[in-house]
Amino acid sequence: MQTIHPAAPAAIAALAPLLGDRLTTARAAREQHGANEAHHPAAPPDAVAFPETTQEVAEILRAAHAHGCPVTAIGAASSLEGHHLAIEGGIGLSLARMDRILAVHAEDMDAVVQPGVTRRRLNEELRATGLMFPVDPGADASLGGMAATRASGTTAVRYGTMRDNVLALEVVLADGRIIRTGSRARKSSAGLDLTRLMIGSEGTLGIITEMTLKLHGQPEAVSAATCRFGSVADAVDCVIATIQSGLAVARIELLDEMMLRGFNAYQNSDLPEAPHLFVEFHGSPAGVGEQAQAFGDLAGEFGAMGVRWTDRAEECRELWHMRHQAHYATGALDPGKRTLATDVCVPISRLAEAVTHAQALARELSLTSTIVGHVGDGNFHCGLRVDPGDAEEMARLHRFTDALAENALRLGGTVTGEHGIGFGKIGYMAAEHGEAVAVMRTLKSALDPKGILNPGKMLPPGDEG
Ligand code: LAC
Ligand code: ZN
Repeated sequence: MQTIHPAAPAAIAALAPLLGDRLTTARAAREQHGANEAHHPAAPPDAVAFPETTQEVAEILRAAHAHGCPVTAIGAASSLEGHHLAIEGGIGLSLARMDRILAVHAEDMDAVVQPGVTRRRLNEELRATGLMFPVDPGADASLGGMAATRASGTTAVRYGTMRDNVLALEVVLADGRIIRTGSRARKSSAGLDLTRLMIGSEGTLGIITEMTLKLHGQPEAVSAATCRFGSVADAVDCVIATIQSGLAVARIELLDEMMLRGFNAYQNSDLPEAPHLFVEFHGSPAGVGEQAQAFGDLAGEFGAMGVRWTDRAEECRELWHMRHQAHYATGALDPGKRTLATDVCVPISRLAEAVTHAQALARELSLTSTIVGHVGDGNFHCGLRVDPGDAEEMARLHRFTDALAENALRLGGTVTGEHGIGFGKIGYMAAEHGEAVAVMRTLKSALDPKGILNPGKMLPPGDEG
């Protein structure tokens, strides 16, 4: 077999007796695990492994470590920055079969799960308990992948990101050692916070094999609304005022006029092609009513039109289902091209500046772009339609993404609020972190001295190579 990584054949041979048909070099499996939702070129691993236990993950890493073979973890493969792509070959470590919910401690409001459980499945299992796991990146991502990429999404404005909702982890290190970080206690001041070190480490420091998650009560009442504005600037100013007034929104999402055009093309609807906010409140029936009233008053001050409220669960579900199709709806514009989803995040007071800058930039560079975002956190995405084969258009695209990232940093923000670095954003690490990149590299070489875990991701190559 022709492999991409020279160490792959020896590692595969060493693991074959352990995993049997749960280690495959079949082309279809490799291609499936080397594909992605974004614009990145496919990158199939040399083999795909499907471990079922922590011990098996440890054995895979021991063998890979001994042979110097790359290991790239794969969850639901919904990443937009190429995290799970085996760009140097080696073993693709699918966590799909580690998908058991190990415990639900309703009285402590936590759950212990394996990394392959998806967020929707956990919520289905939790339905009868009155509890929920709120972090919602849109895609039905795996919880392990969400922890590894420090995911967030529409509800982070109320419930926080994965950073705030993971209490403890079991992690297999590059050499096969198994460690536990954190506990089921809600807080601790014992030692370094390795849980948070692992969250967002993108599979470069260890493989998450078990996680203890914080659960929240299902809200007694939910009320959602859509409204449109005369301009994106008015919509964003309304968001800033909402957050600054302390209104406890559970979701507050911006969608610009191009995004609405995308939805119309994608689902054959006839929505007004104007900037919109989609909002949601969670609480007691009285509390939600008061918040809705306060938001309605505020939105009126910014010229909101066509305000439509609903507290019917089915209608709320449909609304968020539509919102979650944003990536695909962007794909309905300019057919034949691919979507590049950007992701920046700025302090809320600078949001209007950041969004206006992005819109002007897309116009100036003649790029088709939607804007959609978790604006309560100052986080937004531009969905750009590009033809990867058109060098001139790709050059304009790179000018756009560079200027967007630079502006986010200038405004005191970050080059990614939730999509992560992967290899798509590696070029911005030094600009965002400066000397701290060297500290990250020191941690990486302490935990993964042979550099086998997800090589080529997150950390830019150092001077020493
Ligand atoms: C969203 C993805 C692109 O917010 O993060 O739809
Ligand atoms: Zn998003």
